[in-house]
Amino acid sequence: MAVYNLYVFLALTFVEKYLFCPVHVCVQMIELGLADGSLIDELMELTAQSLSQLEIQERFNIIKEIGRGKYGKVLLVTHRFRGTPMALKVMPKASTKLQGFLREYCISLHLSCHPCIVGLFGIAFQSNEHYCFAQELVIGRDLFAVIQPKVGIPESSVKRCVLQIASALEFIHSHGLVHRDVKPENILLLDNHCCQVKLADFGLAQKRGTLIRFITGTLPYMAPELCTVALMEGQKEVTAPPLSVEPSLDTWAFGVVIFCILTGYFPWERCMDSDDFYQEFADWCRMERPNNEEDIPPLWKRFTPEAMEMFGKLLALDVGKRCTVGEVSTYVEKDWLKKVHGIEQQQTAERNSASGNNPGHCEMEIQPNTQSQTE
Ligand SMILES: Nc1ncnc2c1ncn2[C@@H]1O[C@H](COP(=O)(O)OP(=O)(O)O)[C@@H](O)[C@H]1O
Ligand SMILES: [Mg+2]
Repeated sequence: MAVYNLYVFLALTFVEKYLFCPVHVCVQMIELGLADGSLIDELMELTAQSLSQLEIQERFNIIKEIGRGKYGKVLLVTHRFRGTPMALKVMPKASTKLQGFLREYCISLHLSCHPCIVGLFGIAFQSNEHYCFAQELVIGRDLFAVIQPKVGIPESSVKRCVLQIASALEFIHSHGLVHRDVKPENILLLDNHCCQVKLADFGLAQKRGTLIRFITGTLPYMAPELCTVALMEGQKEVTAPPLSVEPSLDTWAFGVVIFCILTGYFPWERCMDSDDFYQEFADWCRMERPNNEEDIPPLWKRFTPEAMEMFGKLLALDVGKRCTVGEVSTYVEKDWLKKVHGIEQQQTAERNSASGNNPGHCEMEIQPNTQSQTE
């Protein structure tokens, strides 16, 4: 019996590893690498040498387009020979550098074994006009699509989502990498209640310590130190010194995402002095005794003191004082929305999420999937 079980186990392991999920083989191999992201360069070099040339339809049946971002589109396809449904990320060669594609693919592959990060099949190729790689198909909407404007999503769903994304980000950071594009559009849902969510889109991910000389444009999720190297319209050069990519950039973005999904508002448009909403929050952060109710900026009055303490740490203006993403887990047992707001908001959010209502986007009218380019 024991021998039989061993054979069954070995057979299943073989099937799982070599037939369905070739990616696991790679992951086990590369887990031996250093936690400073240095293995990514080697993986990129090897992938470049073996990148096959084929047209999408030679290997896949295209069912439909299921998503689009600034850099590419995502197609629902089935593998022609195995029938497996997959999400194929397709990036036009005209607007994608080979190195950028290789970095995104190799970083995604390196991290895809985490349960809260989108899985990969180990399939990457180039066609005449595109670079492509196959991802696990996540059949649900992305988080942006389920946010009720001015309302958000139920606090219980927010907390489930927050714990999973914190775990994914801790994993990324432990590998010496930074995601750099944490936002609701890049969080994929397997169900409407955030019981299972997955972080996707490593298109801007980089090794910790990489220097950014400038970015073009800003997003509400970008930390103030990142906004100092943003080239605004009409500006020719940036005067601030280059910025080192650090996990604290993800911590800030994560804090902004939590605000957005709890409220259905962006807290500000950008973290610059010219933005009044940001200024109000920054003034509150700089106060010596920030717990006085009357000092709290209007948009933030709906939160409990415990939630404000958490936001104060995730969104610390001083990078050195900003907490790690994992610290949110110490706050999940506490209430985040004050009862009067909470009950009202929960009821609307729960009603809407039960009816599958699609709200479009958050109240501040900023289009989803607008991203900034790094030099
Ligand atoms: N694996 C997937 N399964 C299902 N939908 C996906 C998947 N990956 C991405 N999407 C959808 O496609 C959109 C664009 O994909 P993304 O990788 O973020 O592209 P970009 O780099 O252009 O932003 C996402 O916002 C999401 O809605
Ligand atoms: Mg995206």
